[in-house]
Order: sequence, then structure tokens, then C-alpha cells
Amino acid sequence: MAQRDPHSCWDTNNAKIKHIDFDLQVDFQQKALKGTAEYKFDRPLDATVSLDSRDLQIERIRALDGRELKWSLGESNFLGQVLTIHDTRGLNGLRIHYATSPQASALQWLDPQQTAGKAHPYVFSQCQAILARSVFACQDSPGVRFTFGAKLRVPRGLTVVMAALGHGSKVESNETVFEFSMPHPIPSYLFALAAGNITAEVIGPRSRVFAEPETVKACAWEFADVNRMIEGAEGLFGNYIWDEYNLLVMPPSFPYGGMENPTLTFLTPTLIAGDRSLVSVVAHELAHSWTGNLVTNATWEDFWLNEGWTVYAERRIVERLYGTELANLQAASGRTELMKAFNDFGGADSPYTKLKTDQKGVDPDDVFSSVPYEKGFLFLVAIEHAVGRDAFDQFIQSYIHEFAFKSIVTEEFVQYLDAKLPQARTKVNFDEWIHQTGLPSTAPLFTSRLIDQVRDAQKRWTAGERDLQPTMSKWLVDQKVLFLEELPLQQTPADCAVLERLFDVARTHNSEILLPWFCIAAGSTYRQTFPAIHEFLGVVGRGKYLRPLYRALHQNPETRSWAKELFNEFKDRYHSVGRNAVARILEKD
Ligand code: BES
Ligand code: ZN
Repeated sequence: MAQRDPHSCWDTNNAKIKHIDFDLQVDFQQKALKGTAEYKFDRPLDATVSLDSRDLQIERIRALDGRELKWSLGESNFLGQVLTIHDTRGLNGLRIHYATSPQASALQWLDPQQTAGKAHPYVFSQCQAILARSVFACQDSPGVRFTFGAKLRVPRGLTVVMAALGHGSKVESNETVFEFSMPHPIPSYLFALAAGNITAEVIGPRSRVFAEPETVKACAWEFADVNRMIEGAEGLFGNYIWDEYNLLVMPPSFPYGGMENPTLTFLTPTLIAGDRSLVSVVAHELAHSWTGNLVTNATWEDFWLNEGWTVYAERRIVERLYGTELANLQAASGRTELMKAFNDFGGADSPYTKLKTDQKGVDPDDVFSSVPYEKGFLFLVAIEHAVGRDAFDQFIQSYIHEFAFKSIVTEEFVQYLDAKLPQARTKVNFDEWIHQTGLPSTAPLFTSRLIDQVRDAQKRWTAGERDLQPTMSKWLVDQKVLFLEELPLQQTPADCAVLERLFDVARTHNSEILLPWFCIAAGSTYRQTFPAIHEFLGVVGRGKYLRPLYRALHQNPETRSWAKELFNEFKDRYHSVGRNAVARILEKD
């Protein structure tokens, strides 16, 4: 048995899953997907095959000729349970009859109350990094790719969407059956579905936005730039190959800002700010269509290959659509985030500040941070600066072309870089960037008039000036966020009142501004804001907001017990990844 990925039991010497046909009923009463998954392998199987699984209720497993197969489940640990299927020698396929459990870590089952319409239930999946195994048994490694077909059955009146091409639906007695196919091979973490009261609006020649009817019009307006983004990304990477690029705006408990599910990016509704100020998240998820979904990290230890590259592409798209000043401002904010991430790991010497991490025995969700994003981004910018943009742009196109539909480790990237751009290594210390902790002192810095304005206002604030309204009234959202993010969490009540007015927090719906403000209010025990914090944490499940806000509440001795009360009240409303992340923060002393 040979293993390449510390998070999967996939035996690299055995056959790989090549195709799966799903036939699943979405049962909202029992909070379960129930039915069959039929697997085809790329060659005949060995005597046994091991698949990753978690909390699956397996009814029976058969060879495709109907022969019943014996199976057993291994011990349960943070990776789930290994499902071993016996007497498989020579088989090319098999069928598993099963159901997911109500606790399936990838699935969140929402009460009608947690949706915009408040009338229908909703379910969605979030499989990255290692949660797909709670939806179907699989070689749950980004190193294995398969195509799939799916029939999903929902109660009549509801709609299913998948990160796949839709082939229509038909009504069969009291249920509607939706059919999908994914003709391009994908890794398991990109498998995705959602079901609920979902409708669509066309927002571009290749794009629709899906959302509940109550919000779909606002979503269509917010993301109207999507086709210009696709064109921008194609300029950088080459053709978009996934046929359609659609968006699904989720209920607010969705644990991420966005998730790059192929053909159908999942988005948090907190992006619907009414002013298109948060659309760089769409640029990011779109860019994953190349960096991540075409060229994929082979293990979660190489996660920076997905995210660092994608942040780089995101900022190139922002630069092209909205200008260098804004892209550089976002890069400056990213650096602040990176410094915070170092801090949260206990300092710049933590092993999790390395680009390539050692994750044996570690759940990737437990060490999720900005490091692969922002340090990865800075590494790529350092290379771009070393070789010049033209040469780097050519490299990007050939890199994507060379590794499309492949899963690679960091070493393969470096080898390819050395072959194509040998001069890069003479100016950039690859080893330092990839294998050492902290940030190299040579890391690129960014300038922008927009950053200068923020730095200037910060100086005036530190010098005691409080009449910053005239300055800030013309600021972009990103400038306000940078200013707030870099303020110490503990402010005097008088300064909290000033900030409240300056950022008009009572009226803003922009969660990027609300979040750093709530952290300051928490750190300063500014009680006037507590009802708003209570309301926010009861609705929003995005980890990027939950983590810092619960951390701020937990760090302040005066709000520490309130943090626990809030979590106890709301934890059932969060997706498992959000819930686990907050639980870890509150466990710390
Ligand atoms: N792929 C990630 C989300 C993710 C990472 C899910 C790891 C599970 C495990 C997605 O592309 C992402 O990075 N989302 C960011 C937004 C982005 C603009 C930085 C987020 O959710 O905040
Ligand atoms: Zn990403």
C-alpha cells in the first residue's frame, strides 16, 4: 500500500475512481441523502479497495453484476472511517447503497427560518477540504479526479442545483428529479449541491446567478461585472473550459466567502452590499477555475498552490477591471491579514507560517489561515518582479496548459519554474519562501495613493485628531476596512463613539466594515453595540467573521463568558467547519 496524501486512505498502487453515477433522494425530514452511488474505476481493482468515509449509513455494496460484496469499517478518527470492500479483484465497478447521516460534516440542513424566504427548508454541501467523504465514499484526495452523473430527487416545488451541467428536471408523483453531469474530471472536494427554493437570473452570456427569489434581483445587480471578469481571467490564463460560469448566493450560514465549485461558485450573501464593493471575491472564485480546478494541489500540504496563485490572479483581475491603486490597496490589506495570521499561530516562527506545511495527523481545517493565500501571493509577486511581467505572463499560460487536469505538489511547480524561468532562482530564495517560517525580508511592498490616504489618516488619528469625517467621506470600502483593521482592539468609550459615527455603523450593511468594528466594540466592552453583535452572530456563519469576532470576545476577560453563551445559543446554526473553528478558539485559555 502506498500513500501520497496524509488525509486520504487512497492507495496509489490500486485503481482510481474514474466516474460516479449518483441517484440520491434529498430527504429533508430525516436530513439525509439516500440512494446509490455507482463507481467505475480506471482499471481492474486489487483484492480489496479502501475508500474514505465518515458517518455514512451503508446498506449494502454490490458488484455491477449484482454480486453482494463484503465490507468493513475501520476505527473512527479525525479522518473518518476507512471503508474496506473485499473480494474486489478484477472488478471495474461497484455500487454502494447508502444514506448520509444528519451530522454529515459537509452538509448543512437549514430550517426555513434560516433562509431569506423563511418558508422552505434548504440544504447545501461544502466539501473542501476533506468533507466529501461524509457525502459519499471516495478516494477523498485532491490527487484523484473523476467525472460524474447525478439524479437528485427533491420534494415537489423545490429546486436542486449542482456544480455540474444541468439537464433539466421532471416531476414524478410528489418529487422532482433533476439530472446533472460533470464531463470534466474533478477532485472530490469540488463536488457540490444545494437544494431549496432557488431561482435564477441571467447575468452574462455564460452566466446565471442562482438565489432565493427574495434576493435574486439584488444578486444580479451586485455581480453584473461577471462577464468582464471572465474575459479578464481568460486574458491571464487562456480559455475558460467549464462551459458555464454561474453563481449561487447561499443563505447566510454558508461558512466561506466563496467556494469555487466548478461551473457554480457558491457565495456568502454578505457580499450583497448594494454597491459592488465586495466583488473581488467573485474574481477570486472565478480564478480558481484555472488555479485549483484545472491545476490542483495534490495534497492539502500544497494548499498554497491553489490559494496563493488564486489571490495573485484575483488581484490581476481587479487591477485590470478597477485599476492598480485598488489592487495594491487590497494587497496591503492582505499583508495586514498575514501578520494577524502569524500572531494567531503564536508568532512568525510557527511551522504553520511555512508555505509548504507538514499536516500528518492534522486536520487541514484546524490550520486554515491567510498564510497560503497571502504569503503565496507575495512569493508569486516576488517571482514576477524578478523576471518581469511579460515573461511571467507567458509562464502563467504555459503552466496552466502543462498541468491542466493534473494534481501537483510544490516540488513539481518549482521544477517547472526552474525549467521555464531559470533566472528566477538567482533573485528569489525559493527555499526561504517555501520551507522557512515567517516572511522573507525581501517580500514585495505595495504603494498606492489609496494606501497613502489611509496611512495619513492613521497618523492624524494617533496624533489625537478625531475630525476625520471630511477625509473619509470619499473613501472606498477597502480603505475604511484597512483603517479599522489596523486599529488596536481596545479603544476608549469616547473613541468608540467617534468610530461609530465615522463609519456610520448603525446604518451600514457592509459586513467587511461591520466585522472590524464589532471586534473593536468587543475588545473595548462597548455595550451599546452588543445587541448588533448578538444579531450578527445569530445569522452569519462565515468563518472569516466568526473567528476574529469570537476571538476578540474571548480575549477580553469582560466578554469571555458572553462569548460562550453566544456560541451555545447559535452553534446549531453554523456549518460544522464554522462550529469547530469557534469551538477551538473558545477552548483556549
Ligand atoms: N477554496 C476557498 C474556500 C475554502 C478553503 C474552503 C479551504 C475550504 C477549505 C475559497 O476559494 C476562498 O479562498 N474563499 C475566501 C475568499 C477569498 C476572496 C479569499 C473566503 O471564503 O473568505
Ligand atoms: Zn480560494
